[in-house]
Amino acid sequence: MAEPKKPPKVDLRRIEKIIASYRGQRWALIPLVQEIQEQVGYIPPQVIPRIAGALGLFPSQVQGVVTFYAQLYTEPRGRNIVRVCRGTACHVRGGKSILKLVKQHLDIEEGETTPDMEYTLETVACIGVCALAPNLMINKETHGDMNPKKVARLFGKKEKE
Ligand code: FES
Repeated sequence: MAEPKKPPKVDLRRIEKIIASYRGQRWALIPLVQEIQEQVGYIPPQVIPRIAGALGLFPSQVQGVVTFYAQLYTEPRGRNIVRVCRGTACHVRGGKSILKLVKQHLDIEEGETTPDMEYTLETVACIGVCALAPNLMINKETHGDMNPKKVARLFGKKEKE
């Protein structure tokens, strides 16, 4: 694996600007946190009290919303999001082994990010191309009919026989 790099530093000034543009607009909590995530990739937990203060809410209310929605993230994510399908069609055609191999190649578990911030690994219920099972996605690109060699090719390591 590549030399571990530090996670990117949070651009607090950029976040403060976004928060300021929503000041006093209690109804705008969701668009505000979505904009922060769009701009910096996630919602750093340390900005939750700032958001609450600006909108006139309790920090626990903001925290509740941020943790409720699965699409909102409170930790930095990798530059590439890998989603391995765990749907039935993929499962019966070896999806579990594909997930295991991806974990081995990236040396992370589901829900984790590599130390160099290159990959975050997730699973999904169905990618929607079951005929090509087993499948995985890297960002918006689907990779079908996966096998150990293809996994190795995608993640840059030779498969041990
Ligand atoms: S079950 Fe994997 S793509 Fe549908």
